[in-house]
Amino acid sequence: MKYFIGNWKMFGVPKSVNILNRINSFYAKDKNRNKYRVIITPPFTLIESFAKYFQRKKILIGSQNCYQKDFFSSDTSAISPYMLKSVGAKYTLIGHSDNRAEGDNDSILKDKVKFAIKNNLKVVFCIGENKLEKKNKRTLSVLKKQLIKVLESKFDKKNIIVAYEPIWSIGSGKIPTKQELQKTTTHIKKVLKNIFKKKSPAVLYGGSVDGNNIDMLKQISEIDGFLVGGASKSSKKFIDIIKNYYR
Ligand code: 13P
Repeated sequence: MKYFIGNWKMFGVPKSVNILNRINSFYAKDKNRNKYRVIITPPFTLIESFAKYFQRKKILIGSQNCYQKDFFSSDTSAISPYMLKSVGAKYTLIGHSDNRAEGDNDSILKDKVKFAIKNNLKVVFCIGENKLEKKNKRTLSVLKKQLIKVLESKFDKKNIIVAYEPIWSIGSGKIPTKQELQKTTTHIKKVLKNIFKKKSPAVLYGGSVDGNNIDMLKQISEIDGFLVGGASKSSKKFIDIIKNYYR
């Protein structure tokens, strides 16, 4: 199974459901539709209405983050995995570099993963090196540390997807070379196999994915799908990624 996940970040109002309608119409007719899953993570404000609207359709709705506690608490503005599940979210991103930059450390991330899974949300755990780490050839060691500090064998791997998003690539139009990506995804899967005893969860790539560079990205067999930011805000651009992937 491949994954095409659209992360809307701070984008969208109720009428933006039209974008998803167009993606859904394409998906419903696509002869390849059994080979992949489409997940959209809109902002918190739209999760409930979108999840209801797409209940009987194939597009799944997730959140972009969740709080590191289980149920209800007195933390102002926090939204727990329990609350997200109760309004129809099926997935949640955890560890996006935007949230790491705002203070999400390994111990917070571990709690987020733990409580998300406990509440039956599937976790898309994001990792990635920054520009300086890449320059200093620390990519592989940084990624390994990000994985082993948070993921544990007791988490069921069926509930976890890992998204590799190099920070320097997000929103920049730049992506790693084919050779670099082959090496990093193989490394990530090796680390994950060690954590989860033999079989690795799915590993996605994210960072400036579009309808053109997908031609190169699809040649890397270790990559199980894509976490798309900017291009997921346009139905045409998002559909082009899927179309060109299966071309
Ligand atoms: P872009 O596709 O806009 O580079 O964003 C990637 C991302 O951060 C998705 O989570």
